[in-house]
Amino acid sequence: MERFARQAADALSQVLPQPVQAGQMEIPPDTKLGDFAFPCFRLAKEMKKSPNDAAKEIVKLLTDKGSVPKTLTVAAVGPYVNFTVSGAEAAHALLNDILKGEGNGEYGRFEGPSRGTWVIEFSSPNVAKPFMIYHFRPTGLGACLDRVGRYRGYRMVSINHLGDWGTQFGKLYVAMKLYGNELPPNPGIRDLVELYVKLHAAIETKPELEDEARAAFKRLEEKDPEVTAVWKKCIEISMKEFNALYEKLDVKFDHVWGESFYEDQLRPLLAKLKAEGILVQSEGAWVANVTDEKGRELTPCILEKSDGSTIYATRDVAAALYRYEKYHFDRMTYVVGGEQRLHFQQVFGVLRKMGMEWASRLEHVPTGLYRFKDAKMSTRKGNFVTLEDVWTLVKDRVRTLMKERVSLSTAAGGRDGEALSPAELADIEEKVAIAAIVFHDLAADPGREVEFDVERVADFEGETGPYLQYAHTRCLSILRKAAEAGTPLPAYSSASLSAAVDRAVGQLKKDEEIRLVKILGQFPHHLERTLEHRKASQLANYLIDLVKAYGEFYRECHVLGQAKELTEARLLLVESARRILAQGLHLLGIPLPDRM
Ligand code: ARG
Repeated sequence: MERFARQAADALSQVLPQPVQAGQMEIPPDTKLGDFAFPCFRLAKEMKKSPNDAAKEIVKLLTDKGSVPKTLTVAAVGPYVNFTVSGAEAAHALLNDILKGEGNGEYGRFEGPSRGTWVIEFSSPNVAKPFMIYHFRPTGLGACLDRVGRYRGYRMVSINHLGDWGTQFGKLYVAMKLYGNELPPNPGIRDLVELYVKLHAAIETKPELEDEARAAFKRLEEKDPEVTAVWKKCIEISMKEFNALYEKLDVKFDHVWGESFYEDQLRPLLAKLKAEGILVQSEGAWVANVTDEKGRELTPCILEKSDGSTIYATRDVAAALYRYEKYHFDRMTYVVGGEQRLHFQQVFGVLRKMGMEWASRLEHVPTGLYRFKDAKMSTRKGNFVTLEDVWTLVKDRVRTLMKERVSLSTAAGGRDGEALSPAELADIEEKVAIAAIVFHDLAADPGREVEFDVERVADFEGETGPYLQYAHTRCLSILRKAAEAGTPLPAYSSASLSAAVDRAVGQLKKDEEIRLVKILGQFPHHLERTLEHRKASQLANYLIDLVKAYGEFYRECHVLGQAKELTEARLLLVESARRILAQGLHLLGIPLPDRM
């Protein structure tokens, strides 16, 4: 649809004083009123007219001048100039574009020179602590923005700012020294946490352990080999678990640069900041008095504590400087929990104070917490629920639902004529559980608190991940059945594809067919908006709309057993829907089972 949006923008540019970009087009909530809408509010001011009159006036100009190409019709709808693409034109262009290439195709992939470098930091869990739901939200969102950004032509650089530094590692060292021999052969994060808890209990009666821990962290800072080895071991244990999780969620990073990565840069940084007078002494500590981007005073940012140690913020200032030096990014986004809003304002404030004009390219995209409906979880504070807790809950629910489905379908003679092996079933359960958790998270507004109710999250019928996966398997199943009936969708060459699309355009006449085609064409628009608003919910909700349109098409239009050309045309439409759905789910980070 982008090309039609461009045509509409070009037509408008011919009659308006300023050129109009395709990106200014909105999609009307009711597509019966048009496929794109150009909002007239701003222009109306310049024209000294009401927006509704401005819209009418612009439509008149367009018609009088004959600027609108035949592919489009134009109408004033309230304060908007709406454009409607002819069904046949839309089907022709879109089916060709969507069905080009193999697999899921590349529809909506940005072609052209790079749109700039975008550094995105997300996930950033803490070593030796369980992966919290608190870290899951930014992981899902960050990974999605990263994938969509790449798809839409940005040079993305993804970074995991692992929490692998700080005084707690001194404690961990002491704990390991005292109780390390109690660790099982293949220790996990939980075992480390246990040691840590044990040490805390011991400190109650032996406060001198606290001093020992402080000394140990100092030794770590000084690269003492013994402490460093223990610290590395803890990172290794943690990364093993984190990596398994990232693999499951298909999350990748260009760099895992933990806080420790910047350690050597901290002293020179502090010296420079002191020399420049950016740091001042306050109660023994060194702080920067900073303001937010509007010049409002913030709580001063401590960068060196009174005992001379550096802190979280010191490492963030160093990290930003390092990353800019390395990438000269056009934008850097930190996807991190909303509780850290002040922290990022302070860090950005320090950078501004240092005269880094690029500080304006930094942004914190805050994520909200979970609120649990489940009684077992709701008693714990949102922060203290681990992803594993949620995973277990969802997995159990999915297993129950799958069992019901399998016995139902066995009673009904089996789906697609084949029973699933236990291994296949386990694989499906895993994928469905991932879909349930990821989709539920991404479909919600990232900045707000989300309510977690396992019954709703894992439902196969509601607006859920499993529902979308199921819609995809239904597309596959029709294509399979077509093949079994001897009318498979052929593997087209590019020439035969274009002939097939030509044939199909003559066949696709029903409203449900055209509506589905057009909704498929909105895919690039929603990818763009996902990036613009930094909200995966834009894409997630679009896929729900797509599946609804597909459902209406499926109800109204029989695919198999029609005249040969009609069946072929509808199969092309099924495959197009399947591709966009698959591509969209892939960008969200949702795996696709072949059957469910
Ligand atoms: N590890 C931190 C935490 O768990 C999150 C890090 C966020 N990123 C950053 N650059 N500070 O709270």
